Amino acid sequence: DEEKLKQFFIGSIDQGTTSTRFIIFDGLGEPVAQHQIEFTQKYPQSGWHEHDPKEIISSVEQCIERATSIFVDLEHNVSDIKAVGITNQRETTVVWDTNTGEPLYNAIAWPDTRTKGMVRELKLRDGADKLQDLCGLPLSTYPSSVKLLWLLDHVDAVKQAYEDGRLSFGTIDTWILYNLNGGKKNNVFVTDSTNASRTMFMNLHTVQYDDKLLGFFGLDRKKINLPKIVPSSSPDAFGAIQSGDLKGIRIAGCLGDQSSALVGQQGFTPGAAKNTYGTGCFLLYNVGEKPVISTHGLLATIAYDFGGNRKPVYALEGSIAVAGSGVKFLMKNMGFITHSHKISDLAASVQDNGGCVFVTAFSGLFAPYWIDDAKGTIFGITQFTERGHIARATLEATCFQTKAILDAMELDSGHKLNMLAVDGGMSNSNLCMQTQANIIGIPVDRPAMRETTALGAAIAAGFAVDVWKEFDELKGINQKDRVIFEPNISKDESEKMFKKWGRAVEMCRGWLD
Ligand code: G3P
Repeated sequence: DEEKLKQFFIGSIDQGTTSTRFIIFDGLGEPVAQHQIEFTQKYPQSGWHEHDPKEIISSVEQCIERATSIFVDLEHNVSDIKAVGITNQRETTVVWDTNTGEPLYNAIAWPDTRTKGMVRELKLRDGADKLQDLCGLPLSTYPSSVKLLWLLDHVDAVKQAYEDGRLSFGTIDTWILYNLNGGKKNNVFVTDSTNASRTMFMNLHTVQYDDKLLGFFGLDRKKINLPKIVPSSSPDAFGAIQSGDLKGIRIAGCLGDQSSALVGQQGFTPGAAKNTYGTGCFLLYNVGEKPVISTHGLLATIAYDFGGNRKPVYALEGSIAVAGSGVKFLMKNMGFITHSHKISDLAASVQDNGGCVFVTAFSGLFAPYWIDDAKGTIFGITQFTERGHIARATLEATCFQTKAILDAMELDSGHKLNMLAVDGGMSNSNLCMQTQANIIGIPVDRPAMRETTALGAAIAAGFAVDVWKEFDELKGINQKDRVIFEPNISKDESEKMFKKWGRAVEMCRGWLD
């Protein structure tokens, strides 16, 4: 059986916030060939964050081309690639002209905070307090809805297209699917339910668009083209690649990157959780087949939705806006390091944070605080402070927010987690993961293969084309050589650190623009 599984391959497009990857996995979940490209981050004003939608597509195409050529050089056959899955940065909003397929503006990326003022006003509208019960998300700068509203308010071409009924709205999954399928010619215009659950337009209970939600945002269903919501794993809903080396291969899986990481970590049972340290950091906790609406600052979202006779599975989510992007900031803006992975050495050059706390609120603060007007602030600087202390405080910021999220999750779910599965870039740092274990007081469990996000989309696609049929068949994947980080400081010490963090958060509220 193992030998047979080694002969099947599945491609996975992982379109993240700062880079795009294409990884070809075999049926045992081992990556066989891959390519990664970083693409342009545009920051036209303080708080603004955009991507060029066309550059995103060309990065996807290039990654497919290069990884496939490595695959072929290894003497594999393209015809053994059974399907392709897509996973993507969520919430990021693209609008295009339905008639031409041309984007009408840059994509507004999920960490963008230009909608801060608009969110303040929306919170005063009738029905604002009911939104979270319907869609699982509180009003903030984070979801797609407010990004679309900004575009309608500020970009004439978008407004005109809306009035004419030729405005297509999509998250990155929809944009990639539309383009890989040949654009307007075939007009494949779909989204999966995990991505749709990040827009604020989808009712979390019915898994369909909700007129109450659209009405709240003043959107007319007849004027705007919204992609059809389908399950994350499907043999025919996502079409097929129309050009290049993988022409004709079916796209059979599609899910938001955090959902995909949960699937890649095999978080299939209620109570399972994972924390992915990417550009941001996102903790998803599987709550089973009924959504739990948070009353402690978390989001409710679709965890994954494998379709057929399987019901959608829900998660509680704690979203942290800044993780790897904090490290990138130290590298690109401050010149502290020359490569992201050197952050760990820099942090290890000092004993501890030397009294520094860095609230990395570059996009305000997300879960569980939701402080839109916070700005990044470093506390506790003296003549003693070195780069190493700030590096350490940068890593710790994500660890503290994870702790705050776990506390909120315990209150929402009534359960205490006893182990946290981790993955993503920053999880490569032993120092960071040890710090994480110390701050949350439970062990941290890291797999050997950290590309769990890409693996999740491959699994969703593999299920659709029957490479696997039951979750049990995945049990052997990525289980070898996991590393467990046990907490190694006292509870008192850890509580003291967290208290200081809490004070720092309170002090960075209400920064004036
Ligand atoms: O919600 C945003 C999230 O999907 C982005 O993920 O891995 O690019 O930080 P990542």
